[in-house]
Amino acid sequence: MALLIKGGEIVTAEGRSRADILVEGEKIAAIGAGIAAPVGAEVIDASGKLVFPGFIDPHVHIHLPFMATFAKDTHETASRAALVGGTTTFIEMCCPSRSEDALEGYELWKQKAAGKSACDYAFHMAVTRWDEKTEAQLREIVRDGTASFKIFLSYKNFFGVTDEELFHTLQLAAELGVITTAHCENAELVSQLQQELLAAGKIGPEWHEPSRPEIVEAEGTNRFATFLEATGAAGYVVHLSCTPALAMAVAAKRRGVRLWVESVLPHFLLDKSLAEQAGTEGMKYVMSPPLRDKKNQPALWEALASGAIDTVGTDHCPFDVEQKLLGEKAFPQIPNGIPGIEDRVNLMWTYGVKRGQLSEQRFVDALSTQPAKLFGLYPRKGAIQVGSDADLVVYDTEYRGKISAALQLTNNDYNGFEGWEIQGRPAVVTVRGKVQARDGKFIGEQARGQLLRREPQYFRSSHVG
Ligand code: URP
Ligand code: ZN
Ligand code: ZN
Repeated sequence: MALLIKGGEIVTAEGRSRADILVEGEKIAAIGAGIAAPVGAEVIDASGKLVFPGFIDPHVHIHLPFMATFAKDTHETASRAALVGGTTTFIEMCCPSRSEDALEGYELWKQKAAGKSACDYAFHMAVTRWDEKTEAQLREIVRDGTASFKIFLSYKNFFGVTDEELFHTLQLAAELGVITTAHCENAELVSQLQQELLAAGKIGPEWHEPSRPEIVEAEGTNRFATFLEATGAAGYVVHLSCTPALAMAVAAKRRGVRLWVESVLPHFLLDKSLAEQAGTEGMKYVMSPPLRDKKNQPALWEALASGAIDTVGTDHCPFDVEQKLLGEKAFPQIPNGIPGIEDRVNLMWTYGVKRGQLSEQRFVDALSTQPAKLFGLYPRKGAIQVGSDADLVVYDTEYRGKISAALQLTNNDYNGFEGWEIQGRPAVVTVRGKVQARDGKFIGEQARGQLLRREPQYFRSSHVG
């Protein structure tokens, strides 16, 4: 059945214009003024509303065995949460640990998601060790359509790789033409500082940030950029949190390193004072890189506005209070992670665009178009163009509400943004032409989501700039 979205203001990374959008099957078939509804078409009145391309979260964790437990969401819960918040595609980190086989891990992650996700999805393949099998396995995974890697320079002995392993991974990535995403913190420094703090009896969540200070992230960012420069590979720093790391990334970009930068929702809005609260309140805000001193935030917003920070993800990674208590006696054991997949669009709209820190165009670009371009999904995703997938968000800018764990679809017993006001919310969300969410409710098909295949070499195309 056809779908006609009538009378909305279309807002893309390029501009804003009033037009109707006709969807036939799964694709956008026409865009223009006064399009007549085909017989039997479903008509959505978007007058007074904005219409965005479906938002893409480039960094989420759903199936994640980590820190003696598992992240709480399933693909059912996370995808419904994504959709009510306007995210129509997410890219999940496929993270087998160092002691697991990469290919078996990849198959497991695919199996966990298959037939369960209500929105479209893809994976970044984590490379957590390099042995005689790794190269052939990664070639196979890339041939299967998972054309981006993930590297952790932190989490020693679990996900973390050595410099030698980083080098081999980037050499292969350069040859295959895939981009490598990286968690940039110096694993050895974190480990040593954690031990020092614990030995001094400093065991609470307030010591998490001092165990991973800004210089530790700046070193990781600079090292990653240096390895990119030496190998000619393309890279993407995930969840950048602070000005010293930003300075390293910007310097690398300036000297021509093919480096892109993501920051995530918590780092724009939350700060380390929250993790300094006593007991479980503080533990809720433990993630890595840690929430920082608030003084970093103006620089992150400016970098986002200027494009020095390319994208905004969430690093969605829910652990409930009982799980956080695993670290009650020693902060390094607090499961690291804060959820956000449901709230990224509304919070970045409210505290970015409405507060004048971000133009509408950069908002769409950073939350949809750039992730699509960088990860091989453009112009199928991240665009409102004839022939693009009809992933559309009809956005109600008049909506007023408050974030609350009691109402969320994310499978967790708290929300780090509890009580935060939002000034806007998706009214209608479509995935390939099918209405999946309306006014904060999931109303669609649970198994609608598809695993998106991506071709290697895509980021060499003229789309990425
Ligand atoms: O604290 C975080 N970020 N948890 C998820 C794992 C990671 O490092 O991305
Ligand atoms: Zn990370
Ligand atoms: Zn992450």
